[in-house]
Amino acid sequence: MPVTDRRFSCRAEADEAADDRPLNPSAAPTLGDLINARFSRREVLRGALGVSALGALAASPLALFAGAHEVMGTEGEAVGAFGFTEIAHGVDANHQVAPGYRAEVLIRWGDAVLPGAPAFDPRGQSAAAQLRQFGYNNDYIGFVPLPFGSGNSDHGLLCINHEYTNEEVMFPQAEQPETDTARERVEIEMACNGGSIIEIKREDDRWRVVAGSPYAQRISALDTEIAISGPAAGHARMKTWADASGTRVIGTVNDCAGGITPWGTYLMAEENFDGYFLGDLQGHPEQGNYARYGVPAGRYDWGRFHRRFDVNAEPNEANRFGWIVEVDPLDPSSRPVKRTALGRFKHEGAESIVNADGRLVLYSGDDQRFEYLYRFVSEDTVDLTDRAANRDLLDRGTLSVARLDADGGLTWLPLVFGQNGLAPENGFASQADVLIETRRAADLLGATPMDRPEDMEANPKTGRVYVMLTNNDKRRPEQADPANPRGGNLWGHILELVSPNGDHAAERFTWEVLIKAGDPSRPAVAALWNPATSASGWFACPDNCAVDPQGRLWVATDQGTAWKAASGTADGLWALETEGERRGTGRMFFRVPVGAELCGPCFTPDGRTLFVAVQHPATDGTKDYPGFERASTFEDPATRWPDFDPQMPPRPSVVVITKDDGGPIGG
Ligand code: FEO
Ligand code: CA
Ligand code: CA
Ligand code: CA
Repeated sequence: MPVTDRRFSCRAEADEAADDRPLNPSAAPTLGDLINARFSRREVLRGALGVSALGALAASPLALFAGAHEVMGTEGEAVGAFGFTEIAHGVDANHQVAPGYRAEVLIRWGDAVLPGAPAFDPRGQSAAAQLRQFGYNNDYIGFVPLPFGSGNSDHGLLCINHEYTNEEVMFPQAEQPETDTARERVEIEMACNGGSIIEIKREDDRWRVVAGSPYAQRISALDTEIAISGPAAGHARMKTWADASGTRVIGTVNDCAGGITPWGTYLMAEENFDGYFLGDLQGHPEQGNYARYGVPAGRYDWGRFHRRFDVNAEPNEANRFGWIVEVDPLDPSSRPVKRTALGRFKHEGAESIVNADGRLVLYSGDDQRFEYLYRFVSEDTVDLTDRAANRDLLDRGTLSVARLDADGGLTWLPLVFGQNGLAPENGFASQADVLIETRRAADLLGATPMDRPEDMEANPKTGRVYVMLTNNDKRRPEQADPANPRGGNLWGHILELVSPNGDHAAERFTWEVLIKAGDPSRPAVAALWNPATSASGWFACPDNCAVDPQGRLWVATDQGTAWKAASGTADGLWALETEGERRGTGRMFFRVPVGAELCGPCFTPDGRTLFVAVQHPATDGTKDYPGFERASTFEDPATRWPDFDPQMPPRPSVVVITKDDGGPIGG
């Protein structure tokens, strides 16, 4: 039985423990001596932004929809400051929010999504029920106002990823994987992955899920048929016994962060797909390709019952995961599509912005130690007047990977077949090969290995792009470089990228370190914060981020297990100033219950509602916290958040946050 330790409560933790060597063989130090982070230097965005191409579209309904967060604003637009009273670091069984705010559960694992969903019964789960219910481990959240194009902040669709499953708190002891319980448990897990689309409304000052909505969708790893498009579609390496065309795959897995496009589609980013495959491909032509991604990691035993997840039985199936999936939330009858032009890696996020020339620019990190930052620039321009015109926009364009130089410059290196060694002599016979083996192609180009790149998001008001780098305990001090300045980086850091004249398609950007996370009172941490940061204003392990309608940055953390004891606080959401004298100052807004991670911060267009995803409550690091000190089980979890019902296990849930006086979140 090749399944590895089933007790991993979190993908990040599994990475840390199972992988003593970096998968990236090119992670040697290349950038010379460590230089000081240029905290005080500002590469301020100056010059004309060339917004005229968008100006003509500004009056269209689609532009109205997109205007809150996807279309670049004008240069020098004021970014607001925060004005709330922060909460303290700490950990307990419940969530906590800043005074004057209300944080209420909107939807929980097992709640109804599709009509006919049975009531959640944790001791009588079935795959059939789960396919109609809200999945596990909510991650990315995207909001699409209804009617489409209205900019409405009281009614819309919420698109939510379900990243992975935590069996130890989902199933009673008798049903744990090591007891050899079987197919039904595996299929519940498969049904729990994917995404949910729900219709929500704000009425009488309360948000609720609209029951029986015609928009409701469940996308899963078990039964959702997904098309494959773009340059790798139909390639021999994408064909399987079940799909001789190489253009059709069942399911999506480990959908982590994501994005909403300006035309209102929902992008799901497949992250740690390696964990779902069993087997051993010694001597097979795909062996080197798979090794670069850690396939097969065998974290789940799906391959026992669904042979396509056993690489010995189906050597090509793993080439069909690790992509970005585009879903139309406005048309539940449409088929989702894996867009191969965006590359294959452990995608963390798919946030986009319409460039001044009208093309779409999409940023995506590859979340593993020593992996890279990617950017996709569409060939065609976005049509903000006709949704359908953008249907295949993500199939054509240029994917690039970032090299960050010691002088503060960044070069985007195009991953294009036939250029810069991406050619037959290096094992690439086509653009399909380049995309299927995106990581190896990026290695050849000399991309900069980063400290677990997570969310990357452009601020539409300033044009600057924020990069969350969670941590990298495997970076040795001699491997430190200006963009990843600490060896043994347990705490993570945030970079700010600046494009010339606001041109997100430019070949050269500049960058600087915004903060180096971790406890600033411990000299050994070498943290970098604005000295005005309060005792609870610093955080560790930045993971997801969001920019609110005022252009302010919010950062969600994922400390995993080992880091929590060092920070003394649960994960949460911090407001982080990026402008003026308070640049680099944090403020704690929301805290998750013990063992959880915070994902998916998402604002309505008016900034008066904030949705957050509380992921894997009761799992990560619970044994390190005073008062908990044990690994959770279904029978004895560290918290039964959010129900606190002795009959209910902990349940990952979406929480909706509003201000008591109805004002903007964050003041
Ligand atoms: Fe799914 Fe990289 O967090
Ligand atoms: Ca995460
Ligand atoms: Ca993470
Ligand atoms: Ca984000």
